[in-house]
Amino acid sequence: MLKDSVKIAVLVSGGGTNLQALIDAQNSGILNSGKISLVISNNPNAYAIERAVKAGIDYAVVCKKDCPSQEEFEQKIIDLIEANGIELIVLAGFMSILGENFTKKYDKRIINVHPSLIPSFCGKGFYGLRVHEAALEYGVKVTGATVHFVNEIPDGGEIIMQKAVEIKEGDTPEVLQKRVMVEAEWIILPQSVEKISNKLLNERR
Ligand code: GAR
Repeated sequence: MLKDSVKIAVLVSGGGTNLQALIDAQNSGILNSGKISLVISNNPNAYAIERAVKAGIDYAVVCKKDCPSQEEFEQKIIDLIEANGIELIVLAGFMSILGENFTKKYDKRIINVHPSLIPSFCGKGFYGLRVHEAALEYGVKVTGATVHFVNEIPDGGEIIMQKAVEIKEGDTPEVLQKRVMVEAEWIILPQSVEKISNKLLNERR
């Protein structure tokens, strides 16, 4: 018998390694309370799209520059979410901040992965490699990743999981970014998505 599962949309902008971690987790059974049903990219050239295609997952592209306003950009995403019956939204390297109307509409239904230990090196302007540049510049010896719910405050929603990662002598932002992905993001993002999907599934019963 097919197990019931929560329908997930993954929002991406770039390489999509976190999307890949979710696809792999789905294939290995780590993620089984939720199913990735749709990938939405705000960048038509994102490699993440190829990962979705390879995995046989439907995808859509919504570009900000094709929308007259932030509201219309968000409305296009909302239309896709609603049309596909999505119950959980995962921001996996999605490099666009979503406004209060959007985050309020999906309270406790949007998850984000951020490449630092929140509340360090987070908020507006801290994304991608910049986060690791800032951590190295500050000289912290431990960094990590955080998975959290998304609310109207950038990187300010309730924390779901965190994992620490050691900073090593001579680290460059690129080397550190990769270590944080391998040792933290690709582990805690699938675990968190499973945890929340399972919770939503139980609430449905
Ligand atoms: C990841 O490190 C993710 O945590 C970060 O961007 C990278 C995307 O990589 N996200 C943010 O900085 C959001 N504030 P990916 O496209 O290979 O998953």
